[in-house]
Amino acid sequence: MQSIIVKAPGRINLIGEHTDYNNGFVLPAAIQMAATATITKRADDQIHLEAIDLNETFIIDSLASLSISEKQWANYMIGVIVQFVKKQKFPTGFNISLSSNVPIGAGLSSSAAIECAIAFGLNELFAFNIDKMDLTFMAQKAEHDFAGVQCGIMDQFASMFGKKDQVVLLDCATMEFQYFPLELTGYQIVLFDTGVKHALASSEYNTRRSDCEMGVKLIQTKHPQVQSLRDANLQMLHDTVSELTHNNIYRCCKYVIEEIERTQAATANLKSNDLKSFGQKMFLTHEGLSKLYDVSCPELDLLVDLVKDNENVIGARMMGGGFGGCTINIVKATHRETIIQQVENRYQINTGKPLIHYLVSIQNGAECVA
Ligand code: GLA
Repeated sequence: MQSIIVKAPGRINLIGEHTDYNNGFVLPAAIQMAATATITKRADDQIHLEAIDLNETFIIDSLASLSISEKQWANYMIGVIVQFVKKQKFPTGFNISLSSNVPIGAGLSSSAAIECAIAFGLNELFAFNIDKMDLTFMAQKAEHDFAGVQCGIMDQFASMFGKKDQVVLLDCATMEFQYFPLELTGYQIVLFDTGVKHALASSEYNTRRSDCEMGVKLIQTKHPQVQSLRDANLQMLHDTVSELTHNNIYRCCKYVIEEIERTQAATANLKSNDLKSFGQKMFLTHEGLSKLYDVSCPELDLLVDLVKDNENVIGARMMGGGFGGCTINIVKATHRETIIQQVENRYQINTGKPLIHYLVSIQNGAECVA
């Protein structure tokens, strides 16, 4: 039987958080941790899914009987298969065996890695010739419809389009993107994982998204040309959204408008190797996510506080959707081990929980392995 092995990675994001679904900019990169899928054609019409890491399987009788499953891991795959069925006819069924070393709930896009591996792999194996951008949107739709998270496009984009040693600046309004090498001369990226994932994360994510949309509607009452927060500025926000009566919406929009602007300025800092200014903006992003956008949590705030006054950490912030997961830190390479040790000790003392850290290397997006 014809078979293929593909992998699709998780991602980091240097700056530009909660901006993707507001038509702003993001600056992600794909990392070495990835989901790997072996996909094999079958002689019949069945679909056999296997989660190697969980030692579980799930069988779907035919391509005509695809629906949401009680097994969450299977939904990430079924969600993608459904997107294909809308566009293409599978000539046969198939087996998918999946395993992943992207930590779950760490804010490294473990779900996008699975969705992209499946989307990329099925497209290759059945030679459907769907272009990578469409595959990216299909993977995102799977997350919307089968995981219930109204996510933006950043995670699936990074997992699909990542490039070794490069970060990618994506304009989420036009989907134009630009790669550039990440040169952190003398510095390195360290991720600290809180080890917590709050249950509210998905519903709160969807609430933030709709608060932003409400904000746009309010701004449109005086500025009808504004289609998204990308087109808005703080003056327009002050003109139309009352801090008193619409406090949540006001704060969300303020953060997003500032973050879209900050991401562009930070990218210029990074390109001109002004790491110090870049790092300062990471701290500002954290403050905005914590105090205005309200998606941080005590553990994430603690991790940022622990490095804030350390002269060998030039920037740190929570990363991804929030409510747990990782912080991303830019640390002086020569002091890396000492910093990790200090932060791990303090975190353990303060929270009673162990702290895990990850060193990242930047790798290619979805690709065939065999
Ligand atoms: C999650 C979503 C992304 C993005 C980030 C926040 O990772 O999947 O689309 O919105 O949160 O920047």
